[in-house]
Amino acid sequence: MWNHYYGLKLTEQDIQKGIHRNQVGGMWQEMRELQLKFMKEQGLKPEHELLDVGCGSLRGGIAFIDYLNEGKYSGLDINSSLIKAGQAEIKNANLNSKKPVLIVNDSFNFKPFNKKFDYAIAQSVFTHLPVNLIQKCLINIEHVMNPGGKFYATFFETKRKFDASPIHQPNSGGIITNIDRDPFHYHISLFKYLVKGSSLQMNYIGNWGHPRNQKMICFSKGKNSA
Ligand SMILES: C[S@@+](CC[C@H](N)C(=O)[O-])C[C@H]1O[C@@H](n2cnc3c(N)ncnc32)[C@H](O)[C@@H]1O
Repeated sequence: MWNHYYGLKLTEQDIQKGIHRNQVGGMWQEMRELQLKFMKEQGLKPEHELLDVGCGSLRGGIAFIDYLNEGKYSGLDINSSLIKAGQAEIKNANLNSKKPVLIVNDSFNFKPFNKKFDYAIAQSVFTHLPVNLIQKCLINIEHVMNPGGKFYATFFETKRKFDASPIHQPNSGGIITNIDRDPFHYHISLFKYLVKGSSLQMNYIGNWGHPRNQKMICFSKGKNSA
């Protein structure tokens, strides 16, 4: 499979020990605060519907659930044990009353949420995915975003489109990214190509304070699209 999250299994004891926090990249507090701060700066308000794509064990999720009104947080992940860990985090944070909805699936099928979203985020998810899965995610998300909705995604960037060698990502603590395996890097032109002709438009944001040099892009759904 494409990345280790497909087969990852955490026991109840692992979850009690907090191992799920490292499995999504550690930096639990820092990445939680960064995600919420960034989305608030982009206009996220408590009354908005938010979709967290590849939500994992809710590193950002807990902050979003706390901030949003009841029923406004939806999270999807491929890994059931990370979702289980996320449910434990919700309980520990006394946030069950916010009624977050968490779904496990491996095909970016957002239809079971049965709603449309104003905002979505995929933080440190495209970095683990080959391009065909990113394409699938974008195809499916287009149908569940409200007109004017915004989907933010992070990725590792290469500036060298025609160079297949691995890249030592600067200011990343030594991460090496690849064209053909996890962690993946991409040239920005790829994302433009993937949404060309759809109702999504891509804008490059770039640096957003990520401690491992992941860049941010935004896919905006046209205001007049269905
Ligand atoms: C580095 S973690 C980031 C989790 C979360 N976004 C955060 O910031 O803490 C990557 C997440 O992407 C999820 N993931 C990987 N491949 C996926 C796929 N095909 N569909 C849904 N989620 C996926 C993993 O299970 C994992 O939870």
